[in-house]
Amino acid sequence: MSAPQTAASMSLEDAVRARRSIRAFKPTPVPREVIEQVLTLARHAPSNCNAQPWVVHVVSGQTMDTLRERLVAAARSGTVTPDVPLTDTYKGIYRDRRIGAAKALFEATGVGRNDMEARTRSFLRNFEMFDAPHALFLFMPGYQGLREAADVGMYAQTLMLALAAHGLGSCAQGALSHQMGVVRELLEIDDELICLFGISFGYPDHDHPSDAARTDRAPLSENVRFYD
Ligand SMILES: Cc1cc2nc3c(=O)[nH]c(=O)nc-3n(C[C@H](O)[C@H](O)[C@H](O)COP(=O)(O)O)c2cc1C
Repeated sequence: MSAPQTAASMSLEDAVRARRSIRAFKPTPVPREVIEQVLTLARHAPSNCNAQPWVVHVVSGQTMDTLRERLVAAARSGTVTPDVPLTDTYKGIYRDRRIGAAKALFEATGVGRNDMEARTRSFLRNFEMFDAPHALFLFMPGYQGLREAADVGMYAQTLMLALAAHGLGSCAQGALSHQMGVVRELLEIDDELICLFGISFGYPDHDHPSDAARTDRAPLSENVRFYD
């Protein structure tokens, strides 16, 4: 089934360059029709054997307010209830890149290197979902594995590019998968599904200090090998 034409009119390159993690949103809700256009476009993501293993739960309105409140409370309590194990550590260049991304955000938002209280507040912004009016959670069947998780990643990027092409901002958030006890209870999630991560989305608040954070990318020579 081919998707209907939508209002999005950005070139691929513009959408790829426009997408970056947004960590402050305006409260204005995105019309349901626009959300459905984005989801309709995102369906075109490829997947192993076209199995389309993603299961998407979209949260808005009163449910979003309740979720935000419960996620913040759970995160403050220090409990962690992920469906998939958290990554323990990043080593070498991966660690350096991770530090670079955190530094960009902390510098933009005025969080001091050793200010643990400010760092905690910054982390808790994840559970406030950066004030976004909407979030979605990406699930897949629990009996599947790494290959299908890659499919969900492809779906997520297609979705975030579609959001960008509609003038919307997004932030993929592994942190949202830390509190699955809360999410499962509120959204009544099927036991057979596991959550990889969530994505907060809406209209970006470009006036928020976090908007100034920018990440860089490694040159091709670090990640790509050519064979002739
Ligand atoms: C699967 C995934 C999980 C992520 N989890 C978080 C998160 O929990 N909190 C957060 O603020 N950013 C999170 N990010 C955003 C990354 O930090 C961001 O993509 C990276 O630093 C590159 O920056 P950019 O998205 O602005 O290009 C996540 C991104 C991905 C793809």
